[in-house]
Amino acid sequence: MLVSATEMINKAHEGHYAIGAFNINNMEWIKAILLGCEAKQSPVMLGVSEGAAKYMCGYKNAVDMVKNIMEFYNITVPVAIHLDHGTYEGAKKAIEAGFTSVMFDGSHYPFEENMAKSKELIELAHSKGVSIECEVGGIGGEEDGVVSNGELADPVECGTIADLGVDFLAAGIGNIHGKYPANWAGLNFDVLAEIQKTTNGKPLVLHGGSGIPQEMVKEAITLGVSKVNVNTECQIVFADATKKYIEDGGIDKPKGYDPRKLLKPGADAIQALVEDYVVNYFGSAGKA
Ligand code: G3H
Ligand code: ZN
Repeated sequence: MLVSATEMINKAHEGHYAIGAFNINNMEWIKAILLGCEAKQSPVMLGVSEGAAKYMCGYKNAVDMVKNIMEFYNITVPVAIHLDHGTYEGAKKAIEAGFTSVMFDGSHYPFEENMAKSKELIELAHSKGVSIECEVGGIGGEEDGVVSNGELADPVECGTIADLGVDFLAAGIGNIHGKYPANWAGLNFDVLAEIQKTTNGKPLVLHGGSGIPQEMVKEAITLGVSKVNVNTECQIVFADATKKYIEDGGIDKPKGYDPRKLLKPGADAIQALVEDYVVNYFGSAGKA
């Protein structure tokens, strides 16, 4: 059954581990992530950007696909379907379509406007039993058309949004969407620690989770991060494994062009990556 993410995130925060929020794009992504988390008995959030929702033929179809795949594979671990970097309108549509969790990313608005919209959507989400994430500061780089310079979050503003009753809060702490550049300065743990204080221990969200060194992720978890978003890394391992299948001649074997064969190495690679993250980075294995 799909669930709101509130309980899984609060348990993670209390237990000093994190929940992985892996972005989905299609059936292969959903299957691979769910099977990986079921194998490791880890709760999980499936992130859906507005672009990916469009690609999957709408919010409603994304919800139905996840539900049907969960039923088909007897998935027993807690699963939340979560709108990633949602707009004000998108958050409303996703809630309407049956999403069990949403992010409203109002970080590009002047703070007062971000606050007013966040407040309204927090009330709406909670009235429907849906968990909600809001954002302060900016996550550097670009993801599905969401672009930011990577502004560090102001801990006082984070405290103000936390007080509105948001369930978990995304804050810019030097994290970047996409691949990290070789000269990346790393996460700003001083700002993260300050935010954990000003938010009175609100569960925090680390975006741009692809390619952050394991020890840095673990340190962030000790400072209050309870949800880590991963998107790019799944795309990279899928593309690399598919490329290898083709270059190794898999496609030239009898029926090697069958999509069920062509897409399998990529899907297996995503599942292996997810299992590695939940066991070795997030500590959520066995917490279902
Ligand atoms: O919202 C999703 C993420 O923050 C994922 O970031 O693509 O760098 O893994 P990533
Ligand atoms: Zn993000």
